[in-house]
Amino acid sequence: MATRALNYLRPVLRNNCTIGSRHISPIKTWARYSSHSPMGSTTTNTRKKVTIQTIQSLYKKNEPITVLTASDFPSGHVADSAGMEIVLVGDSLAMVAMGMEDTNEVTMEEMLLHCRSVNRAVKSAFTIADLPMGSYEISPEQALTSAVRMVKEGGMKCVKLEGGAEMAPTIAKISQAGIPVMAHIGLTPQRQHSLGGFRVQGKSAAGAVKLLRDALAVQKAGACMVLIEAVPPEIATIVTRRLSVPTIGIGSGNGCSGQVLVQVDMLGNFPAGRFLPKFVKTYADVWGEARRGIEAYKKEVKSRAFPSEEFTYAVSKEALEEFEKVVDEIECESQ
Ligand code: KIV
Repeated sequence: MATRALNYLRPVLRNNCTIGSRHISPIKTWARYSSHSPMGSTTTNTRKKVTIQTIQSLYKKNEPITVLTASDFPSGHVADSAGMEIVLVGDSLAMVAMGMEDTNEVTMEEMLLHCRSVNRAVKSAFTIADLPMGSYEISPEQALTSAVRMVKEGGMKCVKLEGGAEMAPTIAKISQAGIPVMAHIGLTPQRQHSLGGFRVQGKSAAGAVKLLRDALAVQKAGACMVLIEAVPPEIATIVTRRLSVPTIGIGSGNGCSGQVLVQVDMLGNFPAGRFLPKFVKTYADVWGEARRGIEAYKKEVKSRAFPSEEFTYAVSKEALEEFEKVVDEIECESQ
């Protein structure tokens, strides 16, 4: 039996028992201790915790900042263990983890549940969570209440919210309370209906001016980072150079201070034919690998090739013989 499997089991001695007229000696059984060591026993975490100072020092060194989304324990765990500096619990989890149509549907309670799962997995990376639509637009006070929940109940270190200059008072309120804020400008998916869909932003001179004004306003209000989505690279680069806080780009070229992608997209964890934005590069074929594994498992179960002996637990010859002697008797008893 694999040692790994043994680690998850602990032996239990069952009490003496009597079946019919016979005495059955104690037998050793195996109780499940844990089906999966939640902290990932094979991974030792040697990385120092990433703090807001770490991010600032990467920015000062002009070293690109790596950001990836996560929506649950396994995706948070792998992103952290692969060395991401920031793990973002983005509200895109509405689609990629919950199968919703868009991000507008996801609630604060749902976001908090996902944040808690990611937080249990992430030991080093700096964590940021999206404030979902409806949890921050009504007033700066409402936004601060939601941000505090993200920190206290979700275990997050920073919150992200969509919007530019008009969100400055809200960003100021949250950051003055000691919660770092990432502002999200350019294509803001929660506002897709007023933007007329998922459209590239900052393409016209007027659009680029608005983008720069937004970036400067959110920075002045206290945003510690600015996420720029779906903006031509030249414009995003100019905006980045005019700021003194890092920009994180998605679909905005490599002139930003860092990059973010949605994990499900970049790992190719979706069937062929699904729509992918132009800016997504897929680095793996998780869907294909998972399909191959599941299909092989199905085949082996159908043919009884699985489970072969190595995946089973041994019983002593004596215990087996003793048991076999009473089988008929027990069957009769139960009739
Ligand atoms: O929700 C999300 O995943 C985002 C992306 C821009 C990374 O905000």
